[in-house]
Amino acid sequence: MQSTLPAKTHVAIIMDGNGRWASARGLPRCDGHRAGVCAIRRVVEAAPDLGIGTLTLFAFSRDNWKRPQAEISELLRLLQLYLCEETRRLLEAGVRLTVIGRRDRLPDELAEHIGLCETATAHGTQLNLRIAFDYSARDAIVSAANRIAGAKVVSIDGFARLLSDEPAAQDVDLVIRTSGEQRLSDFLLWESAYAELYFTERLWPDFGRADLAEALAAFAKRTRRFGGLTDRPAA
Ligand code: IPE
Ligand code: IPE
Ligand code: MG
Repeated sequence: MQSTLPAKTHVAIIMDGNGRWASARGLPRCDGHRAGVCAIRRVVEAAPDLGIGTLTLFAFSRDNWKRPQAEISELLRLLQLYLCEETRRLLEAGVRLTVIGRRDRLPDELAEHIGLCETATAHGTQLNLRIAFDYSARDAIVSAANRIAGAKVVSIDGFARLLSDEPAAQDVDLVIRTSGEQRLSDFLLWESAYAELYFTERLWPDFGRADLAEALAAFAKRTRRFGGLTDRPAA
């Protein structure tokens, strides 16, 4: 299966279903978020073996600020904890971590930890791990558009480079969303223009290596035409 994937497959995951996972067990929602972090560890470990070059994980959307303060605080705390606990392991595994999304609304200490982890892992070559936090694709597009306001000509590639800082935004090959929901919820709208979509009923805290492999196997069977034809050479 691995050999049929593009060399640097970009997989983006909308990690959904933490709350339902917890409710089904009679637990508070935050327990679902904590279990969700374990699932993140599993997929990050599995990704390079499965031929993934870039993995973008949707951890907190701009719209998630609408949630109760206690839940927001826990999500912020979990990101900080993840960075503190994982940086060494990411470094050893050759994983480069970057966080995309707004940083100016995050607590100073968290923003500082993000910067430290990004710097420490900047030379990782095995996996480009991007965590989307306080992220909104529409915000990213508007902010890129504002940055080039006044420029006469902007190409598609040039605009794509403006959408995220280093490493530059790369087209998404496969979007996975867990928990049975079938929508994009303002995630990587530009980068997913030609992405294949894969929806699974699995709740995020239950997601693991086998589920990721299954999604990639389904992806490998898809025919991607990009508007062209696949059964004849280009004229
Ligand atoms: C995904 O799980 C995590 C975040 C959005 C932060 P949810 O918290 O959305 O879980 P459900 O959808 O309520 O089950
Ligand atoms: C999308 O999940 C955001 C993340 C997974 C971080 P939500 O649960 O917030 O999305 P909606 O509200 O169901 O669209
Ligand atoms: Mg949800």
